[in-house]
Amino acid sequence: MILEANMNNNLIYDIDLSKIPKHIAIIMDGNGRWAKSRFLPRAAGHKAGVETIREIVKEASRLGIKHLTLYAFSTENWKRPKPEVDTLMKLLSMYLQNEVNELHKNNVKLTAIGITKELPSICIEKLNYAEELTKNNAGINLNLALNYGGRADIKNAFIDILKDYKSGKIDINDIDEGIIKNYLSTKSIPDPELVIRTSGEQRLSNFLLWEVAYSEFYYTDIHWPDFNKEELQKALFVYQNRDRRFGGLK
Ligand code: FPP
Repeated sequence: MILEANMNNNLIYDIDLSKIPKHIAIIMDGNGRWAKSRFLPRAAGHKAGVETIREIVKEASRLGIKHLTLYAFSTENWKRPKPEVDTLMKLLSMYLQNEVNELHKNNVKLTAIGITKELPSICIEKLNYAEELTKNNAGINLNLALNYGGRADIKNAFIDILKDYKSGKIDINDIDEGIIKNYLSTKSIPDPELVIRTSGEQRLSNFLLWEVAYSEFYYTDIHWPDFNKEELQKALFVYQNRDRRFGGLK
């Protein structure tokens, strides 16, 4: 039954489209290694990585995923050599500039999480423009994690909770897991059911620390520039065949 439907839907894996996760988060790793293996500069890897973003946003949208969070720049990535940071910021700025109309046309809502006010002003301007332009779109939410760190996000939530406690807006007895979630930058999106990391590393690297409590993890050796729509389908297939128990019994 599913197989037949999938042939019509251009699916090469036996995915149940009625059970697509609402939120997928991706750690896009391996741009540098992809470039190195081709004797190219690291920047070429990041550039190729942007092409992959295009393909994956389209496919995720086609498959009915509601939220796609991409880890594009972490709070730790500033430690990279300045030319590489500059390249990443330039690519971000170009991506926002070149893609915004296409994203809007495709009903994509673009949002960002992270300490975006610390990004170069050109990126902030383009990000604000893209967020404003696409804010009412009802299609996939492309959520870019930019200058994002899970610990920083939790720390900022602590500060805001304490401020609201001090001003009498909340009481200690109000604090539960739902309230904490409301102080995180991911407050308006559900926790990811699936986290994908490319390029073989099996770690979280400070990504969505609170939100991944019950996420399924999928690791692949494929470098991000080689990740593609079929690989996304494969990750979904693996996810759909996992047994999610949330600490309980089945
Ligand atoms: C990891 O590869 C990738 C990144 C740190 C950044 C991802 C950025 C992009 C795909 C392009 C810019 C983003 C946007 C949103 C336009 P790595 O450099 O850590 O690879 P390595 O581990 O092989 O060195």
